[in-house]
Amino acid sequence: MVNARAVYLSGEFRPWDEAKVHLMSHSFGRGSAIFEVIGFHETQAGPAVFRLDEYVSRFAKSASLLEMELPLTKAELQEAILQTVKRSGLSSGLIKLFGFYPEISFAILPPQKKIQVAVFVFTKEETLGNKREPTNHSVTACISRWRRLDPDTVPIEAKVAANYVNGMVARQESRAKGFDYAILLDTQGFLAEGGTESLFVVREGGLLTPTLGTILHSITRKSLLEVAETMGIKTFSGRLSQGSLDEAEEIFFSGTSTKLLPVSQVENRILSSVPGPVTRRLSARIEEITAGRDSQFKRWLFPVT
Ligand SMILES: Cc1ncc(COP(=O)(O)O)c(C=O)c1O
Repeated sequence: MVNARAVYLSGEFRPWDEAKVHLMSHSFGRGSAIFEVIGFHETQAGPAVFRLDEYVSRFAKSASLLEMELPLTKAELQEAILQTVKRSGLSSGLIKLFGFYPEISFAILPPQKKIQVAVFVFTKEETLGNKREPTNHSVTACISRWRRLDPDTVPIEAKVAANYVNGMVARQESRAKGFDYAILLDTQGFLAEGGTESLFVVREGGLLTPTLGTILHSITRKSLLEVAETMGIKTFSGRLSQGSLDEAEEIFFSGTSTKLLPVSQVENRILSSVPGPVTRRLSARIEEITAGRDSQFKRWLFPVT
């Protein structure tokens, strides 16, 4: 039960019901909470957190982009996360990490730079809530009328709550049009990503993905590109036109909670035999890695001890 689980809150473990902020807090009123979603997986040696160092570094990067001061070092934060997972007793699931300003604020600038930190642990099922699970493990997608936030308007690399209205309205639009997910173009009209996931297309057996610059620095994306190279799959990260979706043999979304999510239809184009061979091979390899059965990438796992 999620509400019986301890929450790490500013240096101590507290009951779920005490993990609150005031409506007048800066992070509520201005959407200034930064966050991360991190996966932990069952391995033969017990639960292990996937690329914990990378997620904590991205969190620290979000903080620095917004001039926030973390109340603890990266090493201390990693330890707090591992301890929260350990206390949960869960063998696999998702961690939600928050950095926020709990102080009451009327102004656009937060009253101080130092943030508070909270860590929650969930099972995958608990995070789904009333969300529809994709049927046949694939999803349909539309091209959203909403463009991905332009990097000249806000620091899009920061995983900050306020930026996520972008993905929310795109997903709402896709649901209203009868699709599961949305693909957002950047403000120049090139492919960017999904609302909360990266986008990949397969062409002539190679893996193509939009370049960094207008998208989140996804850790799954980065991992997939590295893993694909070791499997002899050619990779390309660059500007991709919308037409790439018409030419693609396979299309998939990726992210921490979805891993690889095959796309079976984009607008009125239906893809056959989903998931395709490249998606299937990569997906199987990622499962092996997260289960701790792949010696080459064991270094990506942080055991919960
Ligand atoms: C906008 C956006 N793109 C991509 C991703 C995937 O990133 P990651 O693989 O680090 O979970 C996310 C994750 O939440 C996201 O919010």
